[in-house]
Amino acid sequence: MATLTILMQSLLKRLTLGHGTAALAVLLSLQGSPAHAQAAAPASPALPSWAYPVNPPFPVFDDKTLHRVPGSTKEFTQAQVENDFAPPDWHPEDHPALPHVVSSGRPPAVRACMKCHLTNGGGHPGSSDLAGMSVAYLTEQMHAFRDGNRTGQRAAPMIPIAKAITDEEILEASRYYSALPLPPAGWRTIREGDTVPETYIHTGGMRLPVPGGKKEALGNRIIELPQDVERVELRDSRAGFQSTAPKGSFRKGEKLVKDTSGKTIACTTCHGPDLNGLADVPGLLGRSPLYIFRQMNDIKIGARKGGAVALMQPVVANLSEDDMLAISAYLTSQKPKHKT
Ligand code: HEC
Ligand code: HEC
Repeated sequence: MATLTILMQSLLKRLTLGHGTAALAVLLSLQGSPAHAQAAAPASPALPSWAYPVNPPFPVFDDKTLHRVPGSTKEFTQAQVENDFAPPDWHPEDHPALPHVVSSGRPPAVRACMKCHLTNGGGHPGSSDLAGMSVAYLTEQMHAFRDGNRTGQRAAPMIPIAKAITDEEILEASRYYSALPLPPAGWRTIREGDTVPETYIHTGGMRLPVPGGKKEALGNRIIELPQDVERVELRDSRAGFQSTAPKGSFRKGEKLVKDTSGKTIACTTCHGPDLNGLADVPGLLGRSPLYIFRQMNDIKIGARKGGAVALMQPVVANLSEDDMLAISAYLTSQKPKHKT
């Protein structure tokens, strides 16, 4: 609760400077009723597999063939790429010096952050973006994984890391990712469509096209795929993602994001007027639509709770899976504003 109060105060301070009284009223009413908001979690329904890919067993990776990616003189085998404590840094010139915990982790449990979140903090669809979020927010999330407040199906890899990591390592990793600029425009693209390639779930929960596969109907899903399969498999930090969402998602999502009907609460109220984040509340634009959906859904079903999450509970309480899908698609379609 202490964190929540600090967050509320910082939000209120900002909101009273730049925002209307409606937002303030929402926040004040929420601050008065966190217990009510926390009681709302319904029984856990089945998780949609497009947003919650289940990792297949790890194969034995090839340790003979050396691979390269464009723009780098380095060479790694796939086994080296998958090393939990020395994943590849293809483009050292792209980023500031890596703290040890980010580049190498600490055996046995603290796996190198950059293996999954990459050196650019853009992450893979199975993990999460981290770039540009506040140190306080990132630290709080590590505590949430550690303390049983983030237990969603895809939180599984983070829990043993968060239980073993030291405060100092959290601070180093958080400072690194917080200081990074957001990944460049075009790193994540999304379009609306009816069909997508047939796909399967690859290592680490990443969906890939079936080689030589056919197209299939998209249905009620968002499918996020690498823009370049080989480079993403090699964990190239310059290789981004492309998603396809059902037709009509962007318009429907935009309406909900700017909601004035009372079904949800306009996201700008807390995530900033441009949705680029406000104080310790993270930005929402240009991120993985799968990740955004999972978080809203995890909060709705009670798998993400505690602290400032109370502010999000009334936001998702009346949203259906289709609503959250549309919101995620719309948010990904919007370009985040890069700080200059
Ligand atoms: C093996 C892959 C893997 C490694 C290694 C890893 N993470 Fe994660 N991380 C994940 C996944 C998966 C999620 C959660 C996705 C979800 O809940 O949907 C996540 C989420 C997070 C989040 C929450 C982000 C947000 O927006 O709330 C933080 C913070 C985080 N990780 C920090 C770290 C740090 C720091 C390290 C290194 C010490 C690290 N991670 C190493 C896979 C990994
Ligand atoms: C009343 C304030 C408030 C409103 C309104 C609000 N949010 Fe949030 N949201 C938060 C806070 C605070 C957090 C961070 C929670 C934490 O610290 O774990 C958050 C976190 C999130 C996250 C998780 C981000 C991450 O990196 O893991 C998503 C996704 C999200 N909000 C989506 C939305 C969407 C979409 C809307 C509008 C439909 C919205 N929020 C409206 C306060 C709000």
